[in-house]
Amino acid sequence: MKKLGGNFTKKNIAVFISGRGSNLRSIIHHSKKKNSPYKVKIVISNKKYAKGLIIARNNKIKHYVCNLTKSKKLGKIILNKLKKHNINLICLAGFMKILPDYFIKSFEGKIINIHPSLLPKYKGLNTHQRVILNNEKFSGCTVHYVNKFLDSGKNILQKKVRTKKNETAKSLEKKILKIEHKIYPEAIIKVLANL
Ligand code: GRF
Repeated sequence: MKKLGGNFTKKNIAVFISGRGSNLRSIIHHSKKKNSPYKVKIVISNKKYAKGLIIARNNKIKHYVCNLTKSKKLGKIILNKLKKHNINLICLAGFMKILPDYFIKSFEGKIINIHPSLLPKYKGLNTHQRVILNNEKFSGCTVHYVNKFLDSGKNILQKKVRTKKNETAKSLEKKILKIEHKIYPEAIIKVLANL
């Protein structure tokens, strides 16, 4: 942990990604604000060519490529790295793998995720398409704790948006992504305050 002015101590977070990394970028951006209570210490990607890795590199953040869901041995290697770096919280940001049970248990209550829907509605993939097909008046995004069931842990923060007339999955995704970038750092701060 890194000492801040006064009595604050910065907590260390790890961000897990699989792709673009726009939430990672926003989480890093907020971590650089004055009095931010967290620092992004490590980025893990299960994909070698994830664009988010470039963001990690440009920000001089340690990053590893590892498909930790492939074998328990790889998972244990990552767990050791996280422990070595004193990680207080794991943030999944577009991480497209389901974490194994033993991994979740090792960080019980300390893994969170962002999902682009008003959970518990629309768990899983292709959220925006399904919302549009069902003519939903509202959608949104949710930051939630991770448990062994897909997109099912307790909600931490949720933000609702109205779907406009002629909304498409693409326009909805764009609108919601903007909100994700706002609420994920807020949710991280909220969770860290109670750790
Ligand atoms: C986001 O919409 C997030 O809610 C979902 O995957 C997407 C990741 O986007 N879990 P990015 O990689 O952070 O840009």
